[in-house]
Amino acid sequence: MSKKLRIGALASGGGTNLQAIIDRCADGSVEAEIVVLICNNPGAGAIARAEKAGIETVTIDHRSFDDRTDFDKAIVAALQQAEVDLVVLAGFMRIVTETILDSFPNRVLNIHPALLPSFPGLHVQQKALDYGARFSGCTVHFVDSGVDTGPIIIQAVVPIFDDDTEDSLAAKILVQEHKIYPRAIQLFAEGRLRIENRRVIIDPPLANEDVALINPPLR
Ligand code: GAR
Repeated sequence: MSKKLRIGALASGGGTNLQAIIDRCADGSVEAEIVVLICNNPGAGAIARAEKAGIETVTIDHRSFDDRTDFDKAIVAALQQAEVDLVVLAGFMRIVTETILDSFPNRVLNIHPALLPSFPGLHVQQKALDYGARFSGCTVHFVDSGVDTGPIIIQAVVPIFDDDTEDSLAAKILVQEHKIYPRAIQLFAEGRLRIENRRVIIDPPLANEDVALINPPLR
């Protein structure tokens, strides 16, 4: 049996995406294992979720570092210590710098709760509402040195209705996040993702019923 992909997850918050990945690894639909969770926020719900799943947790509080590079170096050291193959940002609310990217080239994934390149950054559900967009969604992408600018792997679309609020839209988007993030990780695990210029080529391609643009949503 080939060696399972070793994932290092970085999270800051409640960890529902982390949970979705834990669950899909457990049921075998993602052929990988999360070997370490690194969290910058000592109180984050993600830590309890990882502990419950028997995953090693490391808390690296950004507030105890004067320098961003030193913070990122501490993260890299923990990832390397755990012999991680792939870094997965699961609601990680710090900007990832070259220190991490150079150590894991084309091996850092992120999930973003909007349809990039629309609405990068923070509070993007409210921004989509304020803008009057009729659709939003979520994006799994490789991380590059920009903010939410890296090559796109999978997107899912959700409609925005007149009575949506920031919370209701975020909840709808999260349902899709929990589907597309594990799927993208499995594609990576299968070695099917190749970056050409800034396009992600899925090779071999997905079958018709299993497309990378998800609307209607992935089952
Ligand atoms: C998710 O909506 C994720 O897309 C977003 O934070 C939430 C984390 O939820 N990430 C970002 O905005 C990254 N800039 P979770 O902790 O329940 O997975």
